[in-house]
Amino acid sequence: MSAPAVLVLGATSEIGGELATRLCRGKRVVLAARRVEALGPLEERLMAAGAVGVDKLYFDATDTAHHRQIVEKVGPISAAIVSFGILGNQERAETDEVHAFEIAAVDYASQVVALTVLADAMLAQHTPGTIVAFSSIAGWRARRANYVYGSTKAGLDAFCQGLADRLHGSHVKLITARPGFVIGNMTEGMKPAPMSVDAATVADAVADAVRSKKGSATLWIPGKLRLLAWAMRLVPRPVWRHMPR
Ligand SMILES: NC(=O)c1ccc[n+]([C@@H]2O[C@H](COP(=O)([O-])OP(=O)(O)OC[C@H]3O[C@@H](n4cnc5c(N)ncnc54)[C@H](OP(=O)(O)O)[C@@H]3O)[C@@H](O)[C@H]2O)c1
Repeated sequence: MSAPAVLVLGATSEIGGELATRLCRGKRVVLAARRVEALGPLEERLMAAGAVGVDKLYFDATDTAHHRQIVEKVGPISAAIVSFGILGNQERAETDEVHAFEIAAVDYASQVVALTVLADAMLAQHTPGTIVAFSSIAGWRARRANYVYGSTKAGLDAFCQGLADRLHGSHVKLITARPGFVIGNMTEGMKPAPMSVDAATVADAVADAVRSKKGSATLWIPGKLRLLAWAMRLVPRPVWRHMPR
């Protein structure tokens, strides 16, 4: 049987790539992405960081019938990073139901499928493993300016809280990351929000939690975002409705 691998679903993700480079030393890495041809630079970084080998697979998250096939092909998994996602265009999604569906399909439904398959397969493998999911502060309280994406993150976060409880006491743990605004590809051209971080900072925080001997965890990134989140719930609706994304 092959050694447990680090699997990245949505491996062209900036945060997913950063995290994989922190977890790859001495590991086989499987990069699954739509744009396999774009994975060369990440493969080089992973090998330089101590990965023992890198495999690349085609993966479209919305092709949910194939998630199990991909996970089974990987074999035992030490860390699974579920990093695919789209911000979408809120304005367009308000009148274009196909786009609204696309955001819901990628950022909620396909995540649920991936996480369900990973939990099932990793519980069956009998070796320790960690699953990483990406929620967001956008899901904490839906904003008029970003409610389509925000609602998917709210649903995903709730799913993760339940999944973490299901995994409690097992050899599999779930890290649910709740970053704030991350300056990078997904937010290119947008004005950074207060307490913005970069992908490397998110990856550092998640990698620490993956390596920790503690079990499942939910991480605000940066940690002080927890205070802002608490305050967000207190803002009256007539004020909240005017908040920017
Ligand atoms: N950036 C932020 O401010 C922020 C804040 C909080 C949470 N998050 C979450 O963190 C996660 C990673 O985000 P990131 O900043 O790394 O964003 P990113 O660099 O834009 O990466 C997202 C990746 O998802 C992939 N993807 C989209 N749809 C896909 C599909 N149908 N099948 C396979 N791959 C697909 C994209 O691949 P292609 O190259 O094929 O398009 C892209 O590489 C996401 O879940 C995001 O919502 C991000």
